[in-house]
Amino acid sequence: MASNPKSKIQNPKSVSPYSALAAGYDVVMEHVDYAFWADYAHRLLTQHHPGVRTVLELGCGTGSLALELQPLSDYRYAATDAVPEMIRVARAKAELQNAPIQFAVADFTDFRTDPPVDALVLLYDGMNYLLEAAAVLDLFRCAFDALTPGGLFLFDQSTPTNSINNEPYFEDVNETEGFAYRRLSRYDRERRRHVTAFELTVEGETYREEHVQRAYTFAEIQALLRQTDFEALAAYHNFSMRPATEASERIHWVLRLPAG
Ligand SMILES: C[S@@+](CC[C@H](N)C(=O)[O-])C[C@H]1O[C@@H](n2cnc3c(N)ncnc32)[C@H](O)[C@@H]1O
Repeated sequence: MASNPKSKIQNPKSVSPYSALAAGYDVVMEHVDYAFWADYAHRLLTQHHPGVRTVLELGCGTGSLALELQPLSDYRYAATDAVPEMIRVARAKAELQNAPIQFAVADFTDFRTDPPVDALVLLYDGMNYLLEAAAVLDLFRCAFDALTPGGLFLFDQSTPTNSINNEPYFEDVNETEGFAYRRLSRYDRERRRHVTAFELTVEGETYREEHVQRAYTFAEIQALLRQTDFEALAAYHNFSMRPATEASERIHWVLRLPAG
């Protein structure tokens, strides 16, 4: 029987975030222009460190950004994500394109690089999955230890402004061959928690995933960065080269490991 994403799925199996979604993540993200995201990331990297050769992407998902960003400067590129199912999809895509990207499973609050890399990249809400400030500090600590002197950590944050401005778009459904989803999001303004429930049908099996993100304010991330030895070179507003403010929906941070 054909699944209908508009009707509520009965008794779906609860699974951890992205473990079932991995199969159809690229369908859910088909509105995202990864080539544009990659151009912007490349611009920020080259502007602040023209010598970047080695890149490690964190929270890479199914590798869509990696596949666009790696060729822009023939970077030596590795990419990691905490969820094995996401990495499996990323590897399959890279293999199809013969892309020279190494994928591995790793948690970005607990990783090492050997040797260190010139740049770390973590885009599209990855850090928003860290619900406690202590975990963000763990990420910063690992990032600090993973870079060459003068190396960059480029990451983005989705803000409370983003969650509030996009509240009308908080429900959507879609269906393709072998995959269907219904996504329902809600934003708790007081606690600044953004919760998304996915009901998924993957090859006839039904699943439920709950994703919880924290909408950090600009000031919160500024305060956490003051507890590190990173130099915060820039924080950009909504994919522009203008400075971020609390009114930004997405902020791209460029941090530098001091050279000396
Ligand atoms: C919204 S997705 C973005 C994926 C990818 N960057 C993209 O642009 O499509 C967030 C990703 O962060 C990953 N993630 C969340 N917490 C993580 C952690 N502690 N360590 C590594 N990856 C994590 C998830 O598995 C997921 O793939």
